[in-house]
Amino acid sequence: MLLGTQRINGNGALEIGGCDTVDLAREFGTPLYVLDEDYFRETCRKYRAAFESRYPKVEVSFSGKAFMTAAVCRIVDEEGLALDVSSEGELHTGLRAGLPASRILLHGSNKSPEELATAVEAGVGRVAIDNLPEVERLQQVAVEKGVSVDVLVRVAPGVQADTHTHIQTGKVATKFGLAIVGGAAKECVGEVLNAANLNFRGIHCHIGSQILDVAPFREAADMMVDFAAELRDELGCVVEELDLGGGLGVHYVPGDEPPSVDEYAELVTGSVRARCEKHGLPLPRLLQEPGRSLVGEAGTTLYTVGVVKEIPGVCTYVSVDGGMSDNPRPALYDARYDAVVANKAREPRSTKVTVSGKHCETDTLIADLDAPEIAPGDILAVQTTGAYNYSMASNYNRLPRPAVVIVSRSRAEVIVERETLDDLLRLDRIPDRLQSNRPGRDAAG
Ligand SMILES: Cc1ncc(COP(=O)(O)O)c(C=O)c1O
Repeated sequence: MLLGTQRINGNGALEIGGCDTVDLAREFGTPLYVLDEDYFRETCRKYRAAFESRYPKVEVSFSGKAFMTAAVCRIVDEEGLALDVSSEGELHTGLRAGLPASRILLHGSNKSPEELATAVEAGVGRVAIDNLPEVERLQQVAVEKGVSVDVLVRVAPGVQADTHTHIQTGKVATKFGLAIVGGAAKECVGEVLNAANLNFRGIHCHIGSQILDVAPFREAADMMVDFAAELRDELGCVVEELDLGGGLGVHYVPGDEPPSVDEYAELVTGSVRARCEKHGLPLPRLLQEPGRSLVGEAGTTLYTVGVVKEIPGVCTYVSVDGGMSDNPRPALYDARYDAVVANKAREPRSTKVTVSGKHCETDTLIADLDAPEIAPGDILAVQTTGAYNYSMASNYNRLPRPAVVIVSRSRAEVIVERETLDDLLRLDRIPDRLQSNRPGRDAAG
C-alpha cells in the first residue's frame, strides 16, 4: 500500500516527498513523524473542489485535533480552509500561526469560562454550544466583553455510525451535544434565541470517526434538515448554517475501502438539497470539518527496530523504539495499521511478525504484519499516522515526544522539534523539604 507521494526508490527504500526515509531516520532520529506536504495540500484542495463544485455556499474546516502544529495551521490557511478547535491550546496555536480568528470555530463538550472568554475576546467566527448551561455562560461572557457572538447548537441526531464505540458521537447516548429526540436540542436553540448577545446561526453534528459506510452520513444529513424544518415551524427561526462535522474514514490497511471525497460530497450535498426541497427550506451554508480524511494518510511514523524475539510456534515480536506514547490508537480503539520495512521495501513479505512498542505494557502496534525478514537496525515505516498520533502523544515511561518533519520535493524540514530529556524535567519541581532528606547525604549526593 503506497499512499500520496510514497514510492520505492532505486535503493529499494521507501521514499516520501522525494526523501529517502532511511536517510530521514538517520538525519533526524527515530521515532519520527513524517508529513507528506504535497499529499496533505492535494487532499485539502480535493475536499474544497468536491464540495464547492456541487454546492453554492460551503466552508471546509480542518479539524485541528487530528494534527495540530503551527506549520500545519499555516498550510490549512494557505489552502483556504477554516479551522475547528476544541480547547484553548488549539485556539492559541491557530491564532499564533496567524489564522484569522473569524475563520476559527470553537467546539468542546466542557468549555471552561476561561476558554469561552479567550475565544470571545479573540473574536472567533463561531462557538458551537454543546449544552444548556453553556448558553448562559456564553451570554454572560459576551455581555462582559460588550460583543455579540455567532453560535451553532451541537445536536446529537441519534445516528449510530459503524465504527468503534469510543468514536461514535452522534448517538442519543453520547456526552456530545443535545438530543433531537426528547426536545433537548430544541430547548437549547430556544434559549439561544432568547439570549440578547448570542446570534443563532445554525446547527452542528458530528456522528463519529473513521466511518467507511456512507449510509449514516445520509441519515444524519436528513435528520438535521428535518430538525431545521422543525425549528422553522415551531420556533420561527432560520438555520442559516448546517455543520455536518467530519468522520470520513481512510485507508489504514489493505482492504479498507473508504468512500472517495467526491462520493462523500455527492451524497452529503445531494441529501441536503433533496431534503431542503422537500421541506421548502432555502439551502443553508454547508460546513464540513474533516480531520482524519485530510491528514491521516499524509502521515508516516519511522521507527528503528530493536529486539527481535521469536517465540517458537507462537509469533515473532519485533520491538520498535516508540509505541503507545507516540501512537495510542491500537490500545484505545483496536486500531489497525500497515507498515513497510523502509530499507527493504522491495523484498517479498514472506513472514509474519507482531510489531510492539518499548513501553511497560503489551503495546502491540501491529499484530500479524506481513513483512520481509526483519533484523535489528531496520527502519519500520508505519503508514497512515497523520491523524490522532502526534496529537495524542504522551510521555509515558518518560519517552520524549518524537520530532515532526515535513517533506516535499526532496526537502525535509523540522516543524516540531524532538523533545529532549531535559524537556521532560522542565516543569518538574522538587520542594525544599525533599532536597536533602537522607541523613548524611547532601542534595547533590
Ligand atoms: C466536532 C468534531 N468535528 C470534526 C471532527 C473530525 O473528525 P474526523 O477526524 O473523523 O474527520 C471531530 C473528531 O472527533 C469532532 O469531534
